[in-house]
Amino acid sequence: MGSTYEKLIRPVFFRLNAENAHELSVIGLRLFQAIPGLVPLIRSLAYRRGMGEPVEIFGTRFPNRIGVAAGYDKNAVCWRGLSALGFGHVEVGTITHLAQPGNPKPRLFRYPDQGAIINRMGFNNEGAERVARRLEKIPPPGRRIAPIGVNIGKSKVAPLDQAIEDYLGSFRRLARHADYLVVNVSSPNTPDLRKLQDSERLGELLAALEAENSGEVAGSGRNRCPILVKIAPDLSFREIDGVLETIDSLKLDGIIAANTTLARPGVFAENKEAGGLSGVPLARKSTLIIRYIARRTEGRLPIIGVGGIVDGVTAGEKMDAGASLVQVYSGMIFRGPSLPREIAVALAAK
Ligand SMILES: Cc1cc2nc3c(=O)[nH]c(=O)nc-3n(C[C@H](O)[C@H](O)[C@H](O)COP(=O)(O)O)c2cc1C
Repeated sequence: MGSTYEKLIRPVFFRLNAENAHELSVIGLRLFQAIPGLVPLIRSLAYRRGMGEPVEIFGTRFPNRIGVAAGYDKNAVCWRGLSALGFGHVEVGTITHLAQPGNPKPRLFRYPDQGAIINRMGFNNEGAERVARRLEKIPPPGRRIAPIGVNIGKSKVAPLDQAIEDYLGSFRRLARHADYLVVNVSSPNTPDLRKLQDSERLGELLAALEAENSGEVAGSGRNRCPILVKIAPDLSFREIDGVLETIDSLKLDGIIAANTTLARPGVFAENKEAGGLSGVPLARKSTLIIRYIARRTEGRLPIIGVGGIVDGVTAGEKMDAGASLVQVYSGMIFRGPSLPREIAVALAAK
């Protein structure tokens, strides 16, 4: 299947501009999941054998350890199709309180020779209300073929001093539909967003969300919805310590390391394209950060490892560094739909 993708489908996708190719793949998944009976059939083929045992992390049961990173299914329209391919969770979003178009195009760039992507999408999404209505129609958290993480971010029009209210608006609407919720304070393409990683601001934001995190808002008869924080790979270790202290003091559930980088290592040194770099050039840095967090928290804080995973080996490196789950985005563009199964099988055999 992998080579079929690489020989037949990828050349077609790569002849289109990057964003059209992405949209076409989402349309393909939506068509696929709309055909009655196809999702369970493909899923049973993908899960045939050797996919490993389900794992429970922060109280949530995952059928395997590999998931789709945020940014692929921004509006929660194709998560069933993605799950059918063998992904053990899908993180939808980033979703903002208000619908927004994102940055002007072009804003997505592929570098096949480097296995890398630069994007400056800018949180193009349909907004919390519309996505919540979509999620209302599916089984609630805990009763899905694979857990859905809901990743929320700041609306572009909300100034930094109103960020808390803006996140709260999304949280109140979306937490009840999330198997876990991610507070994204690390995308490089929303002005000032990364300032929310500063200890004081982050503490206030997360405390405000956690204060809301019960009853109707948490949903599904749960005490609360698990909350994770997604960080940038460009933080210093001291800054990471600050994030970890905040997570610890509020007893939050985990951390996602890492988002795209503003660094331009190696051959990207001369690249002037604005945005976040992902894929192979991010792998080492992301693994380093995962290892640092795992040591610092003595393995007690669940870590979702993401950045430059392209196969079973690179996924295994994240697990060895201390990740409990892993995610992939760029790798999927270059390797295609057989990747989740390949990674799940490799991780199960470890
Ligand atoms: C086109 C694109 C869009 C993305 N959009 C988001 C997003 O909306 N929210 C988010 O938290 N991360 C987003 N990301 C970052 C990914 O979730 C992931 O953290 C990063 O790409 C590193 O993983 P990778 O090397 O497997 O791509 C995006 C990445 C790409 C390539």
